Amino acid sequence: MKTVSKIIGIAGISILASAGCHSRIRHTKEPEETLKNIFHNDFLIGTALSSDQIEGKDKVAAYIAARQFSAITAENSMKAEHIHPRWGEYKFELADRYVDFGQKHAMYIVGHTLIWHSQLPSFVSKIRSVDSLNKYMEQHIVSVAGHFVGKVKSWDVVNEALNEDGTYRNSIFYRTLGEDYIIRAFKLTEKAAPGTALYYNDYNIERPKKRTGVLKIIKKLKAAGARIDGIGIQGHWNIHDLPLEDIEQSIIAYANAGVKVAITELDISVLPNPWNLQGADVNQNFENSWVMNPYADGLPDSVSGKLTNCYVQLFRLLLKHKDKISRVTFWGVDDRQSWLNDWPIKGRTNYPLLFDRNGIPKDAFHKIIQLKKQQNF
Ligand code: XIL
Repeated sequence: MKTVSKIIGIAGISILASAGCHSRIRHTKEPEETLKNIFHNDFLIGTALSSDQIEGKDKVAAYIAARQFSAITAENSMKAEHIHPRWGEYKFELADRYVDFGQKHAMYIVGHTLIWHSQLPSFVSKIRSVDSLNKYMEQHIVSVAGHFVGKVKSWDVVNEALNEDGTYRNSIFYRTLGEDYIIRAFKLTEKAAPGTALYYNDYNIERPKKRTGVLKIIKKLKAAGARIDGIGIQGHWNIHDLPLEDIEQSIIAYANAGVKVAITELDISVLPNPWNLQGADVNQNFENSWVMNPYADGLPDSVSGKLTNCYVQLFRLLLKHKDKISRVTFWGVDDRQSWLNDWPIKGRTNYPLLFDRNGIPKDAFHKIIQLKKQQNF
């Protein structure tokens, strides 16, 4: 058997050894291929970095991120509640470390996100007047986008502004400022960080009704003379229902509207979705239920095969439309990090990514690399 240092490389072993991480990678066979090399001519391939990875507490995942991926997104550290906790008070330290990580590894750095109704600091949620909310938006964008100018290459300017039927979500921004807050946010970001790619980001926007809402936003922005470069389809999908046709139609529709498409938060859950169960209330106590958490002791081969198959089909589609796609980013490095272990039900064991809980690449990883090699697109 090869020595560990040969398997993961000298640089990797020194990072891992210093973290006492040997047990997590002892049986790992480092893959020769990397996602960033194999998809080099197709699109950027990214991952979300957690605070632990940024702070160097999860060195295995940080090592995989640097070796495998060409782009990063901050999973939480650039969100308003973290970066702008009190009016006029900014905490850039963690986000600066995130940017340092990306620069050190020559990665494309994504900013996530400027205007979103969720993970807002409490002072914003209390704002009632139009003037104050406008002032908050301006100061937030000018300070945050301005702070990272030249470093962050793409901003998710507005996140999740739509309902499932394509109408505007009744967020504090919409309620107080009306739909034009989106135009204002894009114009302010362009001014604060000229030349940065500007994206609208949302989930389920591959679905026809919500897609109509996104197409309206693109038109409105363009008509108002604001720049929008791309649409981020979050890509929180499930092995039971991967909407390949809708994804393809949406990639084509968005490209026809004159913008790029990124898959920005890709993960494919293998677990049952409580909202599909009739009468299931997410707040019900499912925590210890086998029905809702069936794979706590491991994933059966049949399910793992389904996951692989979903990833292969998805990447076949993405490669087919690579001329329209700027980036494909996974929402996390490995299954241990995934937010889907705690959402929509806390404390489950999910398997949505390409690397398992020990940082070992899964069959899905090998199969999408094989797909690319065979098809040689
Ligand atoms: C999630 C993070 O992964 C979690 O750690 C956090 O507790 C909640 O937010 N859509 C988004 C992301 O745009 O910012 C969310 O990230 C997942 C859904």
